[in-house]
Amino acid sequence: MKDTEIIIPVKVAAYEELEASDRRLVDLAREATHRSYAPYSRFRVGAAILLDNGETITGANQENVAYPSGTCAERTACYYAHATYPEAKFVTIAVAARDTDGKEVAQPIAPCGACRQALLEYETLAGHDVRVILTGAKEMFILPSVKSLLPFAFTEFD
Ligand code: THU
Repeated sequence: MKDTEIIIPVKVAAYEELEASDRRLVDLAREATHRSYAPYSRFRVGAAILLDNGETITGANQENVAYPSGTCAERTACYYAHATYPEAKFVTIAVAARDTDGKEVAQPIAPCGACRQALLEYETLAGHDVRVILTGAKEMFILPSVKSLLPFAFTEFD
């Protein structure tokens, strides 16, 4: 028996410290929160995905009166991205959220487990790491890959 550790590298940055292309993606994710349909939770989430063909795709959470039928921003965006540009590979995803008071959350929110699993599929398809930028009003967390958000992920049958 031996002990092991999984270490997740996370960069903590202010918006101003981001590169221009990351700032643009964060802006798009923040804008996308305004297209959320969240009458039940009133928690508005936006996601923006940069593809390797230069396009960016955005999504926002879409709720439903039958609660489990709703979809998170990250899955809205990743399914839309792949349904629109099936050949394109994901490069970076940014996620932003506004609380029930309409203000951006101070601390970044992280994708739910189902979204991590869905995003991992597109990282696997891309064949390279997909950076993840989780945004908050105070600071951003930048992760090097989706798999760093989902250790011990279920990938495929042997
Ligand atoms: N939500 C997202 O869209 N993304 C996340 O990362 C966490 C949660 C949505 C689901 C639901 O519409 C609302 O936020 C409250 O949970």
